[in-house]
Amino acid sequence: MAIQKVMVVGAGQMGSGIAQVCAQAGYDVLLNDMNEDALSKGMSRIEGLLARAVEKERMTEEEKQATTGRLTASSTLNDAKDCDLVIEAVVENMDVKTSVFKQLDEIAPKHAILASNTSSLPITDICAATNRPDQVIGMHFMNPVPVMQLVEVIRGLQTSDDVYQQIADMCVKLNKTSVEVNDFPGFVANRILMPMINEAVYTVYEGVASVEDVDAVMKLGMNHPMGPLTLADFIGLDTCLSIMEVLHEGLGDSKYRPCPLLRKYVSAGWLGRKSGRGFYQYE
Ligand code: CAA
Repeated sequence: MAIQKVMVVGAGQMGSGIAQVCAQAGYDVLLNDMNEDALSKGMSRIEGLLARAVEKERMTEEEKQATTGRLTASSTLNDAKDCDLVIEAVVENMDVKTSVFKQLDEIAPKHAILASNTSSLPITDICAATNRPDQVIGMHFMNPVPVMQLVEVIRGLQTSDDVYQQIADMCVKLNKTSVEVNDFPGFVANRILMPMINEAVYTVYEGVASVEDVDAVMKLGMNHPMGPLTLADFIGLDTCLSIMEVLHEGLGDSKYRPCPLLRKYVSAGWLGRKSGRGFYQYE
């Protein structure tokens, strides 16, 4: 059955970005969040980015209207009852994700595919929490979703070939490039990115260079669009730490041990841009 109606669960930065690109690609989209405030912020974020796209002449006013016309706010998971695909983008906590998937498994039609935007939690375990493990898959978008080209499509051990193909085809319609990844800690993106960020934190921790200079080396010396510490603040230091913990625990190698300075910042509540302070100060 063709994918036509999509629900995105979680209206944060990632969820709203995913909902936006799906609506732009012509899908009927429900953006769901049980928190009304988060939901209205997510809808306004999309409205603002679409208005900017019109301003920059990347989109006409008519295309913007058509996109917003395909987008509806939803505050109950029961709205998944007639969806062909649900993409979950809630907090990176296995208990919360498992609970959402169990509910969706009850509500969504039999044919529906359930996808998770998790950045590092095991897809195979999420599959196993449902009665349709062959129809569960990982769709890992990159932040900011409307700008970044990549989607990691992660196959759980039980994911069927047909479901994998439907999602890979959908990524083409979303104007994204997908890569096929097997379920392993950190997948590919974070297996490579997070140890680099962690090493950048160690470089500061050991007094090799300042935060600004570490970022300058990677920006000007390697042509990265952001230095690793600016990027860590952008992603969220709590997210970086939790992904390093997944790598450390899942792969069992001391080379993945999180830097004590990263832990200290997270304990202090210095989580990066979202809290106003991380390696840099934002207020
Ligand atoms: N949402 C939507 N669009 C955004 C945006 C956002 N949050 N931030 C920037 N943009 C758009 C801007 O609108 C701008 O386009 P216009 O000016 O034409 O409107 C364009 O992107 C470029 O933005 P800027 O000129 O402000 O800044 P920039 O040139 O530095 O680009 C960037 C911003 C695209 C974020 C760039 O710095 C970049 O690519 N940074 C690295 C991002 C990255 O590595 N992302 C992956 C993170 S890891 C991850 O997501 C996985 C995980 O699991 C942790």
